[in-house]
Amino acid sequence: MRVPQSAPERQASSGERPLAVVTGASSGIGATYARRLAQEGYDLLLIARREDRLQQLCSELSGRGAQARALAADLTREADVARVEEAVRTAKNLEFLVNNAGFGTYEFFHEADASGQAEMHQLHVMATVRLTRAALPGMVGRNRGYVVNVSSVSGFMQGPYSVSYCATKAWMNSFTEGLHLEMRRLGANVRVQALCPGFTLTEFHQAMNMDRGFVGRSWWMAPEPVVEESLAGARQGRLYVIPGLRYKLIVALFRLLPRPVLHAWAGRAPNVHRGESRRQVR
Ligand SMILES: NC(=O)c1ccc[n+]([C@@H]2O[C@H](COP(=O)([O-])OP(=O)(O)OC[C@H]3O[C@@H](n4cnc5c(N)ncnc54)[C@H](OP(=O)(O)O)[C@@H]3O)[C@@H](O)[C@H]2O)c1
Repeated sequence: MRVPQSAPERQASSGERPLAVVTGASSGIGATYARRLAQEGYDLLLIARREDRLQQLCSELSGRGAQARALAADLTREADVARVEEAVRTAKNLEFLVNNAGFGTYEFFHEADASGQAEMHQLHVMATVRLTRAALPGMVGRNRGYVVNVSSVSGFMQGPYSVSYCATKAWMNSFTEGLHLEMRRLGANVRVQALCPGFTLTEFHQAMNMDRGFVGRSWWMAPEPVVEESLAGARQGRLYVIPGLRYKLIVALFRLLPRPVLHAWAGRAPNVHRGESRRQVR
């Protein structure tokens, strides 16, 4: 498969700047993708609910020569998804889509707010389906493009308190793998990736009211190396990118260990909201 030209190479040869669409660009991993892709010569369409944050980032990126536009949208709402879907479908120079918007919860499924759980499925699953379906015909037609679905190490496991989160991220892995096979079958220069980070220093855990002290400092990665590995992996056409050696080993273990062993370990997940430790769980 031919390696697609990088954005700067294409810009030099055609004068046209490619477009990257990033969801969840108002903070964390999404904002980091936006900055890195702008550096690589992409124009940006940035999606999230907090428009002030998106506008701030647009000004910063415009100051660095990228054309950046904010599209405020709640991707759990039909009307908003339809607007973003249309923008993605009609973007003539779309080359990079990052389905990154997401959130977690940490409580028993039967006790969790029912609408919040449904929204997680809307955001991780249905928004990813809709935006990917809107992006791919153009990418396949132009024989050029990247779709990165931001999944998680949690997509390789299951456990108490994060049932919907693990399930939606496992879905994301399976969906991305299927698309990878279809692009291969077509011989298309369109690369799809499931990025599976471990604990990353963003607003994610703060949004869940979780104190980061529940795991040691060495477990946390900054978003920059996470995105760096993803972009390097995209250029190499890697389907799964698991940033950091420690998390690569953990996922390898998840894949190797017999289910009953994994279940015994995962079943003892502590309720960090109650300050429990794994040792205290029977
Ligand atoms: N941080 C970690 O440890 C970690 C580990 C593995 C995977 N991940 C995944 O990484 C992705 C990015 O998370 P992050 O760590 O960067 O956390 P973050 O800083 O909290 O960013 C989450 C982003 O998603 C957006 N978002 C949330 N709900 C949305 C909605 N309904 N509509 C549109 N946008 C929405 C947020 O923007 P608004 O609030 O402005 O809408 C924000 O920009 C998520 O998919 C998460 O599951 C994170």
